Amino acid sequence: MLLNDTVLTNLLKQAYSAEKAAAFAYQGHAGSVKNVEEKKAIKQIEIDEWNHRSEVLKLMNQYQVPVSKWYEIKNYFIGKAISASCYVIGWFMPFYFAGNLESGNVCEYIRMKRLFNALNIAAHDEVLFEMSLKEKEHEVYFYQQIKSSKWLPFFEKVFAWGNKSKNDIDLEEGFSVENTNTYCEHYGEK
Ligand SMILES: [Fe+2]
Ligand SMILES: [Fe+2]
Repeated sequence: MLLNDTVLTNLLKQAYSAEKAAAFAYQGHAGSVKNVEEKKAIKQIEIDEWNHRSEVLKLMNQYQVPVSKWYEIKNYFIGKAISASCYVIGWFMPFYFAGNLESGNVCEYIRMKRLFNALNIAAHDEVLFEMSLKEKEHEVYFYQQIKSSKWLPFFEKVFAWGNKSKNDIDLEEGFSVENTNTYCEHYGEK
């Protein structure tokens, strides 16, 4: 079966390659921190991103969506550049920008779920929800690390993430696959 939705196929291609950039970035991030607990946690997040990439690839293969060579090359350089920068920009910024990016990514998989559902495909609801939940957990982890940093108020003002999330999911209030359609409502509709 082919997907008759170019927005969805493009989202899949972008997500597949962006997960690689994220995994590369976390290699540098894990390598640059000294604290053993932080290193372990970031290493696990890198593994999560590789897992996401393989889940997205399964979907692409199922619907014969080709991998974009351009996205692959672009994200290779983005990931490697961020990875290298982690060694020179200090402790705070890699945590802050990782959390900021994760926050923006949470709704991506919810958006994909909705686009699949619009094509009457519900078979991937669970896996897309799980990936979205994982990105939310990543966001929460990064925020917890930096929430009492003296730098945070300044970065919150300039880069608009911190005490305000870029998504409307609150894990403490609950987030389940059944109610994913009430989340991220206007996300991606610009
Ligand atoms: Fe991911
Ligand atoms: Fe993530």
